[in-house]
Amino acid sequence: MSGVGESPALELQGITVRFGGVVALSDVSLQVAEGETVGLIGPNGAGKTTLIDVIAGNRRPDPGEVVLYGDRVTRLPPARRAHRGLARTFQTLSLFDGMTVWEHVLLGYAAGTPHGAGSGRFVSQRKRLEDAAKSDTSELGPVALLDKLGLAAVADELASTQSVGVVRMVDMARALASRPKVLLLDEPVSGLPEPEARAVAAALQAIRKEHSMALMVIEHNLEFARLVSDRMIAIDFGKVIAEGSPDEVLGSDSLRVAYFGEEAEADAPTSDAATDAATAAELASSEAMTTGEGEDQHDVAQRA
Ligand SMILES: Nc1ncnc2c1ncn2[C@@H]1O[C@H](COP(=O)(O)OP(=O)(O)OP(=O)(O)O)[C@@H](O)[C@H]1O
Ligand SMILES: [Mg+2]
Repeated sequence: MSGVGESPALELQGITVRFGGVVALSDVSLQVAEGETVGLIGPNGAGKTTLIDVIAGNRRPDPGEVVLYGDRVTRLPPARRAHRGLARTFQTLSLFDGMTVWEHVLLGYAAGTPHGAGSGRFVSQRKRLEDAAKSDTSELGPVALLDKLGLAAVADELASTQSVGVVRMVDMARALASRPKVLLLDEPVSGLPEPEARAVAAALQAIRKEHSMALMVIEHNLEFARLVSDRMIAIDFGKVIAEGSPDEVLGSDSLRVAYFGEEAEADAPTSDAATDAATAAELASSEAMTTGEGEDQHDVAQRA
């Protein structure tokens, strides 16, 4: 967490995004501190991906400001934000055809180098980048990442031919290889069965212990979100509807209404600790996950 007087790692100020008549985000303000993991949840179409698009520079808010470590970056393109330590993964799997798992990680590594590397520069500087990447023996260096995310055995295989679980790990390895200070994950366990989701949670928690970064994680798997989050923010119809500890947010009346509608609110008994816990349990996926602590993150790909 940031100390008193320090800038948060990420700050959004009054973000609004409209698509024609649809208001996807309406005056959203929030902060993520260094070292903090914030789970961003909400029903389909709530505006979660749009929010990450705005932070990463893939969509311009109007109005609103994106501030990274005290500097406004709202007008910077995605690559310039990447050089300042921002990385993201994508909800829609989007790997490059014809590129291996290792080449994707190398691309992420290139994005985090001081002068960056556009696709043209990546080709021309590949040898230099590869030498640097292979000799980087840090905990989150490209080679260590392949190992931590269970990708070492498939490093030289085409990324696009891998299973959904492996492809999501490749996207995460690519993002982490840029050595981000702020990482945005858009549904990292979507489409994965529960044991694999648990393994991803364990891998993320292990990485977090080694590398301090601000992390924002979108997930519909609410139990996964609860496991990895220090704090949760729920949005619906483009507005923040609840914010607090995972149990507070998962047990809130506003989240119940967002997921189950007004009738659920009318039927709901008064909110007390027991009710909140019951609602949290109901909302957090029916396929309950255990903590994932102690899972071996080295074999994610084997199960993914
Ligand atoms: N490119 C676009 N053009 C028009 N409308 C869009 C576009 N992208 C998103 N929207 C609309 O903006 C709203 C928010 O969409 P967004 O994808 O951010 O939601 P989400 O919370 O990520 O949903 P999901 O959980 O289904 O991924 C929705 O009403 C969506 O239809
Ligand atoms: Mg989305």
